[in-house]
Amino acid sequence: MRKLFILIFFTPLLVFSQVDNNTKSSESIHKKTVNQSNTIKNKIHKESIDQSIKISSDRNRRDASFSKNKSILKIAFGSCASQTHKLPIFNNVVNHQPDIFIFLGDNIYGDTKDMQELKEKYNQLSEKESYKNLKKNVPIIATWDDHDYGWNDIGKNYKYKEESKEIFLDFFDVSENSSRRVHEGIYGSYNYKLDDMTVQIILLDQRTFRDDLVTYKGEFNFDNRYSFYKQDYAPHKDTTTTILGKEQWSWLENELKNQADIRIIATGTQFGIEWNGYEAWANFPHEQKKMLDLINKTKANGVFFISGDVHYSEISKIQTDFYPIYDFTSSGLSSTWKFSTPNKNRIEGPIMENHFGLITINSQIKTPTILMETWDIYDNQRLEYIINLEDLQFNKE
Ligand SMILES: [Fe+2]
Repeated sequence: MRKLFILIFFTPLLVFSQVDNNTKSSESIHKKTVNQSNTIKNKIHKESIDQSIKISSDRNRRDASFSKNKSILKIAFGSCASQTHKLPIFNNVVNHQPDIFIFLGDNIYGDTKDMQELKEKYNQLSEKESYKNLKKNVPIIATWDDHDYGWNDIGKNYKYKEESKEIFLDFFDVSENSSRRVHEGIYGSYNYKLDDMTVQIILLDQRTFRDDLVTYKGEFNFDNRYSFYKQDYAPHKDTTTTILGKEQWSWLENELKNQADIRIIATGTQFGIEWNGYEAWANFPHEQKKMLDLINKTKANGVFFISGDVHYSEISKIQTDFYPIYDFTSSGLSSTWKFSTPNKNRIEGPIMENHFGLITINSQIKTPTILMETWDIYDNQRLEYIINLEDLQFNKE
């Protein structure tokens, strides 16, 4: 959717590991070595970073190199970055020294059926000094949304999805050994280890398999909350329609059965909001329910969502029979929107200025916490919300 319109580490050497769960033979180990010397300027923790990512593809030691001395993991994320904008927000991200940055889609505005043009638009992004700064200092993983996939609001019927996929995976340096290059679509997962905890990041592809949307025909006109803007889409009534498709659903079920303490499910469009007439999971209420049922069925603890697309930041919360499901939206790395839509699930936000999202997982304390923050382009903290991990658990019986 959305067209363009203090903490001081005294340890000199900190080792952090990322495991690409998508590597066909599971051997690839990505290591980031951060050499930190500390100075604090203003409110921001600025440290000089000398980091490199090393990939060893010839050793079968998937878990062996996990560091035991890291207890805080910082995950920055965002979406909706136009290649025609300067994108200084990436410098802000780097200054916060996250361990990883996740692109959640609309990473460029491709909107083309010409693959050469799509490539050139990605190149425009890669040539920006701020993007070079991000790429040099922070490991990046990504999923896509409609505009970088190829066309506004499009799903499985985009004719060039296979070509676009190759361009996407090449741009984000996805390993040649990754299963993401083998199966249809770009979904995949990554594990990060801190102390004895495993953080799983699941990147969904909600474009390649998504059925067409249903045009809005006034179904909610009785509700005055929606009277100030024009709605595009209505919820599907046909429960055979899908967002993720059969194979991705079955892959996701297996992922949720794998051992992990925290599971971040990344999806281009918002999962946790109520219907608003724009693109969101709420246009497929049966798929939204299927997701909650799957979490319940697999008894997956520690699940929350991150999402993008809407050009503002907010946190939504869905009450369930098991534990609350949060959706932390960060959208608007360079795009903006004039208003936020009604959302009864909203518990924080909206933040309308350009920004990025930051999640800090602290496993050092007795009760691990998940801190959600939105930092705007002026480097102001605009949103802060803390979740105790113990509140995202099935009852132990
Ligand atoms: Fe979008």
